[in-house]
Amino acid sequence: MNLQTFLDDVASIVAASDDENEITKRVAERLSALLDSGYRLPRELTRPSPDHHVNYPLHLASGWCVAVVVWAPGQRTPVHGHETWGVVGIYSGAEREIRYAKPTGPGPLVELGEQVFRRGEVTVCCTTDDDVHSVVAESDEPTIGIHVYGADIGTVERRRYDPATGEVQWFAGGWHTP
Ligand SMILES: [Fe+2]
Repeated sequence: MNLQTFLDDVASIVAASDDENEITKRVAERLSALLDSGYRLPRELTRPSPDHHVNYPLHLASGWCVAVVVWAPGQRTPVHGHETWGVVGIYSGAEREIRYAKPTGPGPLVELGEQVFRRGEVTVCCTTDDDVHSVVAESDEPTIGIHVYGADIGTVERRRYDPATGEVQWFAGGWHTP
């Protein structure tokens, strides 16, 4: 599968439904097919930063986007939400995802469990009502994910949490320049 076919498929899926569970299930199938096809990202979108993980825009559409997220070994995200749906496919390396219940009030976050995803694996990371996690890169090589979101994930205002207190800080992740 080439990238354009994948993007056309996602556009059709997003246009055909408002049901996040339906959209993420179908996008996950297509992302899995893209990874299985041996698709290769442009090299400039696979470079980690020594300071923090980076988000490169692969495709920005109206109401959804595809991001390439690159971690150097050992880098991790804070606990955060997305305010939309998201599907993550692992292009190289491995990531450990720690999931939390989305808080409905003040207080410490409740951890739901963790799982490791490796190259070729795809997971529905989020729907708007279930979107709180942190991610750790767990490989000797850079961890690279292809992420599809139901919003422009570089500009959407979303929550960062202190899991010990539940305190929220709003932030926008921004996009990095390849
Ligand atoms: Fe995330």
